Amino acid sequence: MGRAIIAGNWKMNLTPSQGVALVKELLPKIEGAGCEVVLCVPFVDIAPVAGALTGSKVRLGAQNLHFKASGAYTGEVSAAMLKEAGAEYVIIGHSERRQYFAESDETVNLKALFALENGLIPIVCVGESLAQRESGETNAFVAGQVRAALQGIGAQAAKGIVLAYEPIWAIGTGRVATNEQANETIGAIRKTLGELYGPETAKGITIQYGGSMNAQNADGLMAMPEIDGGLIGGASLKAEDFAAIVRAASR
Ligand code: 13P
Repeated sequence: MGRAIIAGNWKMNLTPSQGVALVKELLPKIEGAGCEVVLCVPFVDIAPVAGALTGSKVRLGAQNLHFKASGAYTGEVSAAMLKEAGAEYVIIGHSERRQYFAESDETVNLKALFALENGLIPIVCVGESLAQRESGETNAFVAGQVRAALQGIGAQAAKGIVLAYEPIWAIGTGRVATNEQANETIGAIRKTLGELYGPETAKGITIQYGGSMNAQNADGLMAMPEIDGGLIGGASLKAEDFAAIVRAASR
């Protein structure tokens, strides 16, 4: 469907020197990767990791941004800052930000719009809780999150976004969605994109799976027709595991 992108989300892990060391270990293992590779790193790691990535095709991303250009917003980081430091991507609306930092559908939408307007590629995260999955609400809930996140984004701009389906119950739990569950919900997300932008545009948008994806289960997930890559947490902190996932997406 969309182009395959494997993105690592380091979350709040790795100091700048640890991040640079991981990248040096990783790069030789993923030479000739047949998919796009992105590392979404802590803000202070962006510039040093950009240095370590010089000459490689691996791209850099941040894990959040503010939806204003500049000003009196203590503790926030702007799109211009991220770009100058070397980021091309930015994760928006991760469930951890929704859960612990009051990120709402509305701020996710503002951030997605702002990222696009400022030349950053948003990786917009959606996903249901275990209770929602068990009560059969998954597809309707996730479709609502997608519609809310993309409000005011036209078809042309939508071609420049990435979506990540991350069921909350699968994040950091070791409990991965089955290949069929992930494929089915990503198919439902693509259907929603089709309703918003037409089926052709929907087919071209990358929709990743995220949640306990690892070196063992990546092959099966990546073989599913709707799944265009992965957003990897824990396994992105280990060079060999992350490289194995990149290889699975390259086949
Ligand atoms: P884990 O791969 O650690 O489950 O995390 C997934 C995730 O939240 C990526 O954004």
